[in-house]
Amino acid sequence: MGIRIIGTGMYVPERILTNADLEKMVDTSDEWITTRTGIKNRRIADAETTTSDLAFQAARNALLMADLPASSLDLIIVATVTPDKVFPSTACLLQTKLGAGPCLCFDLEAACSGLLYAIEVAHAMMAASPNYRRALVVGAEKLSAITDWTDRNTCVIFGDGAGAVILDKSDDYANDFYLAGKLCADGQYADILQLPAGGSALPASHTTVDERQHYVKMGGSKTFQMAISLMANTCAELLEQTGMSWNQVRWLIPHQANERILTAVGARLGIPERVYVNIRDYGNTSSASIGIALDELNRAGKIQPGDFIMLTAFGGGLTWGALLLRW
Ligand code: COA
Repeated sequence: MGIRIIGTGMYVPERILTNADLEKMVDTSDEWITTRTGIKNRRIADAETTTSDLAFQAARNALLMADLPASSLDLIIVATVTPDKVFPSTACLLQTKLGAGPCLCFDLEAACSGLLYAIEVAHAMMAASPNYRRALVVGAEKLSAITDWTDRNTCVIFGDGAGAVILDKSDDYANDFYLAGKLCADGQYADILQLPAGGSALPASHTTVDERQHYVKMGGSKTFQMAISLMANTCAELLEQTGMSWNQVRWLIPHQANERILTAVGARLGIPERVYVNIRDYGNTSSASIGIALDELNRAGKIQPGDFIMLTAFGGGLTWGALLLRW
């Protein structure tokens, strides 16, 4: 008995927001954004499009690749910090859009580490219970809805999108895709990346709106330093735990936070050429970014059956971690 990833899918909205567009909105420049972040473009959803719409498109593409109907799913997890509503969950809304049958659906919130957390949870549930044979795991974000478009410290970074994987359990699979995982959190650092208002701590009011408390607040340079050391250290520890070497790992797929962070992680681990980077086109799409990267590599034939790949992420919470997978 094994569990494998049998489908991947991604979706980004059509509208492209360029650095030149941002120059007209805040006091910034293409040169600053490019050299400090590596980002040139990001995709922005229109006002009517919700996170579950983005998730739906990515999930449909993954189901098409797997050649499976949505009715065959037993479990749907959506990782997101931009749910359509506080409740019901975006996973329930996605279930209906897909036409999936009755199955277990929930959202998981671990910010930019969301997809890794969700894969870990889905794999553990499938391994432990006969009730879960087939799972859809989606990372989906409409970050444009929680971005302060007057704040140059944050608005140049984020974009919208979704990435999905289908996990399938079968006696026919000799191997399991999951080799090792290490996922962590430290709530002591909750303040450095947060959306302050709209929850029970600071319910929505005229004051919270006037003070722009419904947008992402970020301590950029603190986040930057911690992201590099936590992602690099966790990947190194995980590899050591398995007794493997970096020569055996085809790709390191990190959460696309900032090109300088990704370059620094690759340099620390001594594998700069194997770090997958696509932040130039999409910006930071939080829990969607690793799913988008996986699907791009998969559809381009750059991951082959049997390849080992490492996923790593870091985000609000703080949360971070890494997964070592066999494709
Ligand atoms: N355009 C022009 N100048 C800008 C700017 C922008 N968009 N944003 C910030 N600046 C300015 C700052 O005001 C500051 O000016 P000052 O020195 O006069 O005060 C200067 O640039 C340097 O700011 P700093 O925050 O030190 O820049 P940085 O090199 O750390 O880059 C980030 C800023 C946000 C790009 C970077 O810290 C980062 O990517 N952090 C991690 C973000 C992240 O990963 N977030 C999500 C976690 S998953």
